[in-house]
Amino acid sequence: MALNLRSMRKEDIPQVAEIDRESFPTLWPPINYQRELENRLAHYIVACDDKEMVEAPETKAAPQKGFYGLISRLKSFLGSGSPPPASQYIFGFAGLWLMAGEAHITNIAVWEKHRRQGIGEALLIAMIDLAIELEARLITLEVRASNTAARSLYAKYGFTQVGVRRGYYTDNREDGILMSLPDIASDTVQANLQQLKQARSQKNSIASPSL
Ligand SMILES: CC(C)(COP(=O)(O)OP(=O)(O)OC[C@H]1O[C@@H](n2cnc3c(N)ncnc32)[C@H](O)[C@@H]1OP(=O)(O)O)[C@@H](O)C(=O)NCCC(=O)NCCS
Repeated sequence: MALNLRSMRKEDIPQVAEIDRESFPTLWPPINYQRELENRLAHYIVACDDKEMVEAPETKAAPQKGFYGLISRLKSFLGSGSPPPASQYIFGFAGLWLMAGEAHITNIAVWEKHRRQGIGEALLIAMIDLAIELEARLITLEVRASNTAARSLYAKYGFTQVGVRRGYYTDNREDGILMSLPDIASDTVQANLQQLKQARSQKNSIASPSL
């Protein structure tokens, strides 16, 4: 696979919404990504495959029967309603909100079938780099107490627990763990980040030359 990180675009939304649904099945309704793309505080990126294009999921919907099927067949016959544009294949995505010098990571998720291949790490690195570029002082986030994969990813990148929100998640009253990475532009954080980036690229050049 050829991993590329870039800003999220409108045509990515159907795939991103699917990844969201798979990764956060208990959160309903899901984030409105269309609105997020229009939100000046929000910044979203995707990890995608430059070489693989996919049609938007709606275009693959099962054919409808009866009256609505007739309408949709008539629409396509008459050429009304152009098909949603194709997008590059999306492995995962991440987003942050920038408010008062603080970058708050809203989301980070990878298709289950593509996990444990360094994609979550690539997304987190891109979020940290983006926060620095946006001149944020620190990065914060909330994570479920039981989410060991995500907590371990954040800990690897220097995030530490700074608080607990008791019963924060409404579906099961699970605690939310507040984590933060302060002074992101400091020499210490930057040196640690460089080391991790280097270790990651060495690991990937051995395991998967194109990552
Ligand atoms: C969290 C998530 C994004 C990690 O993505 P990923 O691509 O699998 O992660 P990576 O392969 O880049 O792993 C990087 C690090 O994360 C941690 N990690 C990832 N999966 C892990 C697991 N199952 N158990 C323990 N640690 C794990 C490790 O520290 C790992 O570093 P290592 O390879 O040196 O051990 C992914 O599990 C996911 O999408 N989960 C569902 C959505 C979610 O919970 N998001 C977080 C919301 S706060």
